[in-house]
Amino acid sequence: MKELKIRGTSGDSTLYIGESLQNLKDYIPPVKTVIITDSNVKYHYHRDFPPAQIIEIGMGEKIKNLDTVRMLYEKMIEFEVDRSSFIVGIGGGIVCDIAGFVASTYLRGLRFGFVSSTLLSQVDASVGGKNGVNFGGYKNMVGVFNQPEFVICDMGLLKTLPKKEVLCGLAEIVKHAAIGNAVLFSYLETHYEKALRLDHEVIERLVWDSVLLKSTVVNRDEKEAGERRKLNFGHTFGHAIEKTVGVPHGEAISVGMVIASALSEKRGYLLSEDTKRIESLLNRLGLPTRLQFNEKKALEALIRDKKRQNEDIHFVLLQSLGHAIVEKIPIKELKTVIEEMS
Ligand SMILES: NC(=O)c1ccc[n+]([C@@H]2O[C@H](COP(=O)([O-])OP(=O)(O)OC[C@H]3O[C@@H](n4cnc5c(N)ncnc54)[C@H](O)[C@@H]3O)[C@@H](O)[C@H]2O)c1
Ligand SMILES: [Zn+2]
Repeated sequence: MKELKIRGTSGDSTLYIGESLQNLKDYIPPVKTVIITDSNVKYHYHRDFPPAQIIEIGMGEKIKNLDTVRMLYEKMIEFEVDRSSFIVGIGGGIVCDIAGFVASTYLRGLRFGFVSSTLLSQVDASVGGKNGVNFGGYKNMVGVFNQPEFVICDMGLLKTLPKKEVLCGLAEIVKHAAIGNAVLFSYLETHYEKALRLDHEVIERLVWDSVLLKSTVVNRDEKEAGERRKLNFGHTFGHAIEKTVGVPHGEAISVGMVIASALSEKRGYLLSEDTKRIESLLNRLGLPTRLQFNEKKALEALIRDKKRQNEDIHFVLLQSLGHAIVEKIPIKELKTVIEEMS
C-alpha cells in the first residue's frame, strides 16, 4: 500500500492506494458511522462493510441530483446523525460526489471519507475535493470544494467492474499521461494488455501515477483558475460528443483527445508521430478514436457548454507528449478541425 497526502485549503486528505475495504474499520470512529453506497456496490461488497448504518442510493447520472440529496438528509435525520457522526461514501464517482456534498452541507459539515470502487473514481474523482450534483440539465452545477479525510483505493474491488467502466478509467489515465507524464505513456504502451486484464501491479502503478499527477496540478490550482484546466484535455469536444452522441464519458473523451491532438499538431506543437502514438494507444485499449457525430450539433453543444458565442475558448493542447498548454482558440478554428476529422 502507498499513501499520498494532499493539502487542500479546506483541510488535508490522505489517499491510500492498494488498501482494502476490509480495513475500513481502522479509519473510522467505532460508532456513529453512516455508509452511503449504491445498490450494485452493496450487492457485491456489503459483507466487507464495517458495522454501520447503510443508506443505499440508485444508479446512473440521473440520480445525481437534489432529490437524492433530500432523501439522504431525511434518512440522516431519521438515523439521528449528529456532529459526531462520520460519513463514508463507498462507490464510484456518483456515490462519492453525492456523499461528499451531503456530508459537507448537513449540519454545516460532517467528517467524511471515501472508498473508491471504480477505476475512474480512483484515478480522477478521488482527488481534487470537488463534490456536487447536477441541476437544471447542467452537470455538477451545485456543489462544494471540500476534501475527504481519506480515500481508500482498493484495486480488489475492480474485479466486478463492467468492462466499459474500466475503459472510462483507462481513458482518464491516458489523459494524465498525455498531459503530464511521458514515462507513464510509454509504460501504458508496453503494459496495456495487463492493464486491460486488471493486473494488480500494473493497475496500482497506473492509479498511483494518476493521483500523483492530478494532486500536483490541483495543489497548484485548487479552484480551477489556470493550471487545473489542463485536466480538461480531450474534454471540450469530449463533453460535446458525450451529449450529442450519447456514448459513455470515456469513449467521448477518447475521441476528444484525438481531436485535441490533431489540433495540437496543426498548430505546430505536437509531432505527427506522437499524434499517431496517442491514437494507437487508445485503439489498443479498445477505445474509439473516431465516431460518427453531427458536427453542427456537437459545435452547438460545445458553445452552449462554454456559455459563449463568437469568442475564443480556453483549449488544452499538447506541446509535446507529456506536456500540456492552454491556449485561447477561436471557435471558428475548432469548427474547421472537427469538419476535417468527421
Ligand atoms: N469529483 C470529481 O472530481 C469528479 C471527477 C471525475 C468524475 N466525477 C463524477 O463521477 C461520476 C462518474 O463516476 P464513475 O465512472 O465512477 O461512475 P458510477 O459511480 O456511476 O459507477 C459506474 C457503475 O459501476 C457500478 N460500480 C461501482 N463500483 C463497482 C464495483 N466495484 N463493481 C461492480 N460495479 C461497480 C456502479 O453501480 C455504476 O453502475 C460522474 O458523475 C462524474 O461527474 C467527479
Ligand atoms: Zn473525464
